[in-house]
Amino acid sequence: MLNYDNYLSEQAKLVVPDGIRGLFPLEKPGVVSFLAGKPNPATFPFESVTLHLKPPLGVDAADGAYAESLKGQKDEEGREIKVDEKGQIVLELEGKDMQEALQYGPTAGIPRLVTFLTEFISTVHERPVPSATAAPTTNGKSSPISRPDTPHHPSKTQAAQLTQELSQTARGEPTTETVNDTTGSASNGHAEQTPWRITVGGGCQDLLFKAFQALLNHGDPILVESPVYAGVLGQFLYLGLEKVEVPTDHQGLSADALRSVLESWPEGKKKPKVLYTVPTGSNPTGASSGTERKLDVLRLAQEHDLIILEDDPYYFLASERPKSYFELETQVVPGAGRVVRFDSLSKVLSSGMRLGFAAGPTPIIKAMDVFTSAANLQPNGMSQAIAYRLLATLMFLWIDVSPLPDTYNLVMNNALAKGVLAIPGFAFMPNGGKTSFVRASFSIVDMGDAEQGFRALGEAIREMRGELGL
Ligand SMILES: Cc1ncc(COP(=O)(O)O)c(C=O)c1O
Repeated sequence: MLNYDNYLSEQAKLVVPDGIRGLFPLEKPGVVSFLAGKPNPATFPFESVTLHLKPPLGVDAADGAYAESLKGQKDEEGREIKVDEKGQIVLELEGKDMQEALQYGPTAGIPRLVTFLTEFISTVHERPVPSATAAPTTNGKSSPISRPDTPHHPSKTQAAQLTQELSQTARGEPTTETVNDTTGSASNGHAEQTPWRITVGGGCQDLLFKAFQALLNHGDPILVESPVYAGVLGQFLYLGLEKVEVPTDHQGLSADALRSVLESWPEGKKKPKVLYTVPTGSNPTGASSGTERKLDVLRLAQEHDLIILEDDPYYFLASERPKSYFELETQVVPGAGRVVRFDSLSKVLSSGMRLGFAAGPTPIIKAMDVFTSAANLQPNGMSQAIAYRLLATLMFLWIDVSPLPDTYNLVMNNALAKGVLAIPGFAFMPNGGKTSFVRASFSIVDMGDAEQGFRALGEAIREMRGELGL
């Protein structure tokens, strides 16, 4: 693991976590908290928020087929999905969800949003959320699902452990700080992986500024692709950074140009330690870096001790998505830990909600959080709650496969053997136990694969029913 003290700015090393926020993790049910500063939620004048979601682009909600397809579907908490008279999905924020949205909360974001995004990033970029018990899978990567010892059904303890491993399901309501401190600390079956975690911010813009502050001192050089996203120029100016231009070509940042900048670095001049790049649909050129290009850049980062700030707000808009730096670094850098990745919800949900998230080595993300706790305490709670409700509802299918009484063996044996993986429902039961539900997250699977996956799951269900004579 890198020594991040060599990378953190003097400012980041000076600033200590906020004395009040640092105690938030200790506020748990059963503890009478006299911590200062949280307004009494009874005084908030909002009871609930109702959201009516437009149908997906190109779908006419009025013709009834869309509403029909939603019939019987459940959201992430097992509630029936409601549809309004226009045939649109209706989401309600109320009760404890509403209170959480309106109240001060953890610096890094509302725990279940952080948990959701951690799992999401882990899946999309094949960066396991490892734990001490993570088992290597056949492809050599560690699986977040470790198989319990018993061939039949996990015990409650194993279930609880698995539940925690499955990205510390927020239903158990660990604090973000707790979640974050345990995330990403184990091996991938090869090199020991640098722990990584997520933080949520007011868009990429906000998080980039905090990353620059966490890593760079006034006067430090920073490697930037040229042309560069103009939004960071003001930040460099404000922080007094020296911009070192790295030319781009049709694939974005040029690895050859980067090499020549680094290899011709003037003797005695402070070397750069940070590289900023927009690898997908670069703003303004539109160029995207392919896998080989990224691998070349990563090799240079390793050789020259660079941290790469991967600003990727257009990733989910691209028709082709090459592997990210965050994913590829595990192929080049033993133990990873050189990439901080920035994602934005601006282009996929709404830019006015001001939400983005960063994933990277825990010491860097922690340092960024210290800037958040000083500057704005936390990201906007209402935006986060809405985003969570929306993403979780639209991304998961909570499928009832009764009369099968349980889904552990179905998922881990029959379905996996057919090349499809989902999450057995017991992982979401607070106390373990059997359940006939499976959770399928389909948002990032392309249509062809989704069809094939659901067909395979269907076959596995029929096979299991046959085995059990049901
Ligand atoms: C490359 C790049 N980075 C960051 C941002 C800012 O994104 P956000 O709205 O998440 O702050 C933009 C916005 O256009 C962008 O183009």
